[in-house]
Amino acid sequence: MAKAKSIFFCQNCGYESAKWLGKCPACQQWNSFVEEVVSKNASVVPAWQSDGASNTPKTLPEIEPGTEVRIPLQDAELNRVLGGGIVKGGLILIGGEPGIGKSTLMLQLALSLAPKVLYVSGEESEQQIKLRADRIPHKPNDTTFILSETALEKVFTQVNQLKPQVLIIDSIQTLSSAKIESVPGSVAQVRQCAGELMQFAKTTETPVFLVGHITKDGSLAGPKVLEHMVDTVLQFEGDRNLMYRILRTTKNRFGSTSELGIYEMQSEGLRQVANPSEILISQRDAGVSGVAIGASMEGNRTLLIEIQALVSGAAYGTPQRSSTGFDSRRLNMLLAVLEKRTGLKMATHDVFLNMAGGIKVEDPAIDLAVCVAVLSSQHELSINEKVCFAAEVGLGGELRAVNRIDQRIAEAEKLGFDTIYISSYNKGINASKHSIAIKPFGLLKQVFGDLFG
Ligand code: TYD
Ligand code: MG
Repeated sequence: MAKAKSIFFCQNCGYESAKWLGKCPACQQWNSFVEEVVSKNASVVPAWQSDGASNTPKTLPEIEPGTEVRIPLQDAELNRVLGGGIVKGGLILIGGEPGIGKSTLMLQLALSLAPKVLYVSGEESEQQIKLRADRIPHKPNDTTFILSETALEKVFTQVNQLKPQVLIIDSIQTLSSAKIESVPGSVAQVRQCAGELMQFAKTTETPVFLVGHITKDGSLAGPKVLEHMVDTVLQFEGDRNLMYRILRTTKNRFGSTSELGIYEMQSEGLRQVANPSEILISQRDAGVSGVAIGASMEGNRTLLIEIQALVSGAAYGTPQRSSTGFDSRRLNMLLAVLEKRTGLKMATHDVFLNMAGGIKVEDPAIDLAVCVAVLSSQHELSINEKVCFAAEVGLGGELRAVNRIDQRIAEAEKLGFDTIYISSYNKGINASKHSIAIKPFGLLKQVFGDLFG
């Protein structure tokens, strides 16, 4: 016997409660609870006593390996973040702010795949999708199918007829299932639709891509369970006004989460950026002060990033500190280290810091480049454009070793740098292997002395 029951959900985080609450105890959001009707099967037999036919446990050697587990993609960046192509039966969630390019990326993927693909859009009409596809250069193909639909049951009717090898849903928030009464995009609907799509993916071994919206604070809209359900979560990020877009994995059951893909938004869709360092550091004239290049790692990739600092006399009583693409608390820490350990007077100065290209960097190996850029701007001394930096700065003003130093050095060398400053604690570097000059130092002060005399 099915019994209708209502439950209150937090629209922000998916917290469940039997009664309405003004403030969510989980995410502290006010006025976020809505009522959802759920039908629960009030079975009297406890699950452990029920005698349903089921899978039997197997040992690992008994499990048949699937044939051809991954479908490789033409898009090298997407391939990389997915860990080498899409896995059969994989459920992939791709999130990002509106206008970042999720639909463009998915349509490009649909147009480039050789197997039969069904692209379901609940946001755009077939004509609008055609207009978009016309902007994207692609070979004419008859394997990409477009469907404009928001009802889950109707989507499945078409899927069962067409039998696509890849299914793309743009977006999960626009789909709605007739089994649930609440509006599309609500927690219960998102959960229901994603659950059914997951079962479809697993039973038919069809990879499914879900496009998901993002809330104001940058997390994926819908309940957290959505992120638990899917195999892979990709975040598409970047400043909408800048050209570059970064695709990051935040969860991947079939690969590493430290990978990163970079695209450039052009008038004909997204272009893959195979060698990001070249564009991140190409736009500068020699002799500008306040600019330093840091060798950072993103996943398995080295990125040489241009760091720009501007230090100027504080116009108002309290000095301002502002950073784009770099943690502002870390900037404050580095400024304190500079003041204490090198005698630089920062207290009466505004400091602005910017990572070129709208990239967000978390790698501490760019600390040294940040400090050097600040000093360079403070004293109006420019740094030779063939010099780069890779070291973490500690509270004592000491340079700390960073991981994968060989890879960073090799990338700097490849891009034509002639000197790299590193920490003397990075041991085991074979300097004779490289044509780039490697300068190891133990203290920040020594680097400044060597650079500016
Ligand atoms: P879209 O893929 O619609 O974003 P989302 O689905 O994440 O909301 O991307 C829309 C933006 O991309 C829009 O501002 C226009 C821009 N764009 C281009 O610059 N070139 C193109 O070829 C396309 C298709 C879009
Ligand atoms: Mg879209």
